Amino acid sequence: MADYDYDVLVIGAGPGGYVAAIRAAQLGLKTACAESRETLGGTCLNVGCIPSKAMLHASEYFDAAANGTMAEMGIDVSPKLNLDKMHAQRLDAVGGLTKGIEFLFKKNKVDWKKGHATFLDAHTVKVGDETVTAKNVIIATGSSVTPLPGVEVDNSKHVVVDSTGALELPKVPKKMVVIGGGVIGLELGSVWRRLGAEVIVVEFLDQLLPGMDMDVRKEAAKIFKKQGMELRLSTKVTGCSVKGKKATLTLEPSAGGDEEKLEADCVLVSIGRRPNTDGLGLENIGLELNKRGQIEINHDFRTKVDGVWAIGDVVPGPMLAHKAEDEGIACAENIAGQTGIVNHDLIPGVVYTWPEIAGVGLTQEEAIEKLGDKAKVKVGKFPMMANSRAKTNHEPEGFVKVIAEAESDRVLGVWCIASVAGTMIAQATQAMEFGATSEDIAYTCHAHPTHSEAIKEAAMAVQGKPIHM
Ligand code: FAD
Ligand code: NAI
Repeated sequence: MADYDYDVLVIGAGPGGYVAAIRAAQLGLKTACAESRETLGGTCLNVGCIPSKAMLHASEYFDAAANGTMAEMGIDVSPKLNLDKMHAQRLDAVGGLTKGIEFLFKKNKVDWKKGHATFLDAHTVKVGDETVTAKNVIIATGSSVTPLPGVEVDNSKHVVVDSTGALELPKVPKKMVVIGGGVIGLELGSVWRRLGAEVIVVEFLDQLLPGMDMDVRKEAAKIFKKQGMELRLSTKVTGCSVKGKKATLTLEPSAGGDEEKLEADCVLVSIGRRPNTDGLGLENIGLELNKRGQIEINHDFRTKVDGVWAIGDVVPGPMLAHKAEDEGIACAENIAGQTGIVNHDLIPGVVYTWPEIAGVGLTQEEAIEKLGDKAKVKVGKFPMMANSRAKTNHEPEGFVKVIAEAESDRVLGVWCIASVAGTMIAQATQAMEFGATSEDIAYTCHAHPTHSEAIKEAAMAVQGKPIHM
């Protein structure tokens, strides 16, 4: 240790990096964390999970007041939007949480090194004007928006924006075109639709939300259409011109065909994110990227270079904050000589629209492919319409689907569309982590009346005998 300034230097203070730094310090390792942003918390706290949820939550209230849901419950209101205040509460949430990480760094004695970090060699990193040496370096540099050739983002003009620009639009656009019907497009498209924009989602594939269970993708499309979103599936954007405050997009069928023009006051580019490795000096340590621009690691989070580790969005796997956090903890524990493990088969995914959409484990299609035969997979479905709490709360949309291996009854995947699907999926993840069968879930006592009872009933449906259907 005497040879190095630190036991651990983490590059990047997002949910992967800041959590890794805190865990390393808790384990008695002398730790620093380099961050080029002015505030800690990375994409998630500054321009991702937290500000998007602040806008989703606030716009959900507005929508419930404006679309008649509150009136159905005997609350007559005529809401008036104060967008400045809505943005202020978003910034408050971000400010409070990023300051909170600063407090946690001080409490745990993690040194924050401000500036962009570049490797000079595997144990020496330049951060701004300072040179820091460390026995172990964890790369947790995260990801940024994937650009779309021909569609230039300029957040300052509020016409063609990425997710960061779409979080801070100063007024509600009349017509918003979202390029990419994935998680960001649907969450931020929902925010502005609820606040009054006409929203058109252009998606290259023939369904929204790639990677999710096909039943869920189809049901989600129906729900979003019913809410007033226009979906242009199997369509690609081939160009964009901007004149003043208007954008004109050129669209084409994904398979090729006649071009058409589409005008918009705002265009959101949300076609995915790519790992941040530019300017990191990976060439100085001989670390090469894979074809997707990611840093490859082994199960311990070690890269091919001794003493250099990597976690979060910059490595393969879903680009999710909780995946980055769990990897951060496990990586720090491995550096400290413990056994840090992440079960990458059970990373839940949640889309925070209304209703929420969540899943964990295999889709039905993946389960059939993996087991090689449709008959080897059992599925139980239960509609939220038949769940007493959802029905009482005027939340009838959606369902729960439990997928199990026919022979062993072991649960392989759970998918939910429900107002609180993001919370419900935690119990499914935990059950699957413990190797539950659908019978285990079906015979677990669930509090009544709760949305979670729909998971129990879907598990009963796998057994062939739900009560309320
Ligand atoms: P990041 O959070 O990207 O942090 C990396 C940090 O490293 C950044 O702060 C960056 O400035 C810094 N950095 C990069 N290079 C250097 C360098 N060379 N030197 C110094 N610092 C550097 N995920 C969820 O699970 N739930 C959600 O609800 C959710 N919502 C999202 C909403 C939006 C709009 C977006 C864009 C993303 C959302 N995500 C969500 C994804 C989530 O934000 C990421 O998966 C998560 O932030 C990844 O964490 P990370 O630590 O790997 O990287
Ligand atoms: P995404 O990968 O979720 O969706 C991108 C969509 O764009 C896909 O459906 C894809 O088919 C489509 N697409 C790609 N190129 C296209 C083109 N040229 N024209 C039309 N459509 C095109 O990516 P997104 O939404 O940008 O999000 C990035 C990442 O951020 C995701 O990996 C996600 O994990 C993370 N995130 C997570 C959230 C959550 O957990 N709730 C919220 C927001 C982001």
